[in-house]
Amino acid sequence: MDTDRLLRELTDFLRIPSVSTNASHNADCRAAAEWVAGELRRLGCREVQFLASGTHPVVWGVGPEVPGAPTLLIYGHYDVQPPEPLDEWTTPPFEPTVRDGKLFARGAADDKGQVFCLLKAIEERGGKPPVNFRFLIEGEEEYGSRVLFDLLRREPERTRADAVLIADMAYIAPRWPAVYTTLRGLCYAEITVRTAKSDLHSGEFGGAAPNAHEELARLLGRLKTPDGKVHVPGLYAPVKRPSKVELASWKRLPFREAEFLKHRVQAKTLTGLKSYSVLERLWALPTFEIHGITGGFTGDGAKTVIPAEATAKVSLRLVPDQKLKTVERQLAAAVRRLAPKYVQASVKFLHGADPAIVKVTHPAFKLLDQAFREVVGRGTVPARAGGSIPVVPALGKGGAPVILTGIGLPDDRLHAPNEKLDLKQLWDGIKVFRRFYELLGT
Ligand code: BES
Ligand code: MN
Ligand code: MN
Repeated sequence: MDTDRLLRELTDFLRIPSVSTNASHNADCRAAAEWVAGELRRLGCREVQFLASGTHPVVWGVGPEVPGAPTLLIYGHYDVQPPEPLDEWTTPPFEPTVRDGKLFARGAADDKGQVFCLLKAIEERGGKPPVNFRFLIEGEEEYGSRVLFDLLRREPERTRADAVLIADMAYIAPRWPAVYTTLRGLCYAEITVRTAKSDLHSGEFGGAAPNAHEELARLLGRLKTPDGKVHVPGLYAPVKRPSKVELASWKRLPFREAEFLKHRVQAKTLTGLKSYSVLERLWALPTFEIHGITGGFTGDGAKTVIPAEATAKVSLRLVPDQKLKTVERQLAAAVRRLAPKYVQASVKFLHGADPAIVKVTHPAFKLLDQAFREVVGRGTVPARAGGSIPVVPALGKGGAPVILTGIGLPDDRLHAPNEKLDLKQLWDGIKVFRRFYELLGT
């Protein structure tokens, strides 16, 4: 394997700051789409198209036809999350750098490095594997995949395949590859509180006028009880407890709560509903998180003002069998009920996703298991994931098994400063997927 060349090529891809949630990067998203399209053409795709959006196109590709061979649809995303806070990066997020066998860059693991892995595995060892490849590489995954959703609703035949392969996750622990049986859903919203017509001098009015930040803080505080239960009426009703068998299988996974706290969370304590295991809290229970709060005065220096408006960006993670639409209604109703009469509270929904459940019984899962076993010495263990990939339920609608796996490691720092991908994981991954394609084709 020409690892020097591969590293150069991946570096070119990672240099493009394709942040989909920020319109000032629209041209960069387009450039990343062009990069993917170039790769698909080099792989000999008969068809390479940009679909559904000028700024964040879905890159569609159809590989060389192999009569009688199975069809594999590869899904991935070329967009990335914003890199901030920039001063916490050891080297800049869009200047990929190798340190200690790890490649540091925004998107190294999520998901450019993994898309790269799936594509390069097709060429590896010369000669293309006997598989009819289809590609759907989108540029809006980190912003809810609206474009791809609408596309698949109009053109569901794009998902027609014998299997769908997604590498956008991690091993469950070093040397423990995994396949995922559920993803959580997401309901992302802005809650805005307005208390007066405009900001007020805090000396003239302080003590007698309502403060938007204070009201918002109280409202947010009421949305979760101190023991970690989300205080949204009806939210937990459809939540399905994992079976006894599944809960028992989690006990055999290489996951230790104390180690998770010390090395991954790196805080003083874990939070959440103490009567459930940490894995159950991460994988099978809904959450409510506050991402950021704006409004009032946050600039340098000091300003004595009573803010009239404050906004919180929040999200809930959803689990089987919750439904996004229902949760949106429940959250809006809870905010209405919890806000005092004298404030104007509103909820705006930005994006979201239903939770996903995938069965891992199809024979294709055995082939991936074998490929991992041959290359890294251990097969895939079934697990659940706490994160979301909005389009997964739609990709599975046609009946094809959706294989959710990945070559990342749990400490890759997705969405955070100093995201990285271990190069050994990448080189192994290329061999694994190459072997998987061969097994699938024969
Ligand atoms: N690759 C992640 C999803 C993921 C992360 C799954 C970790 C399992 C473990 C994906 O790129 C992602 O971050 N999705 C967003 C979706 C959202 C913005 C709609 C997420 O989960 O926050
Ligand atoms: Mn991803
Ligand atoms: Mn992500």
